[in-house]
Amino acid sequence: MRNRSQPCVLGILVSGNGSNLQAIIDRIEAGELDARIACVISNNSEAFALTRAKAHNIPAVVHENSGFRERREYDAALVDILQGYGVELVVLAGFMRILTDVMVNAFPNAIMNIHPALLPAFPGLHAQQQALDYGVKYSGCTVHFVDCGTDTGPIILQAVVPVNQDDTEETLSARIQAEEHRTFPEAVRLFIEGRITVNGRLVRIQA
Ligand code: GRF
Repeated sequence: MRNRSQPCVLGILVSGNGSNLQAIIDRIEAGELDARIACVISNNSEAFALTRAKAHNIPAVVHENSGFRERREYDAALVDILQGYGVELVVLAGFMRILTDVMVNAFPNAIMNIHPALLPAFPGLHAQQQALDYGVKYSGCTVHFVDCGTDTGPIILQAVVPVNQDDTEETLSARIQAEEHRTFPEAVRLFIEGRITVNGRLVRIQA
């Protein structure tokens, strides 16, 4: 159980634009999330998310694949960085890597990911295009705890959006992202407030 007298310490992992990172920063700065982002870590030195972090005086760490022979070694070094910052909750905000047991076991039920589809439909890459190709009438986003599979962990929150007949990957992605920016900070808030319990696959949220 975390020390509730202090803001929850977040470590946010990114690979790209970082709009979900920005949504969480904005909620913290608005006083709506009792959290502190201790570090933003990217496997991609070009990620715009790093620029966003620096603009808010958040330590921005580049942790690239090169130099690591296997994924478990990369993850062991990642665990060291996160623990060095005292991170309590790891937030995957567009982090384009599958985690190994090394990371998952270091932060049990304390790693969250956001996926741009209604899991278990359309896991993996290009979820929005997968939804369009399948012809579903509704899609959305899913916040879930991370296990060693691809988008398979226990589901915390989901939000639904309609799929329009003339949608492109871009228009559907934009509609889903608006929900991501609302849903992800909400899931982080539930964690911070100690309102999430996990029993196997099942997540219960206390009112
Ligand atoms: C989001 O669509 C999220 O669902 C997926 O990666 C994307 C990240 O976007 N996991 P951003 O970098 O937060 O803008």
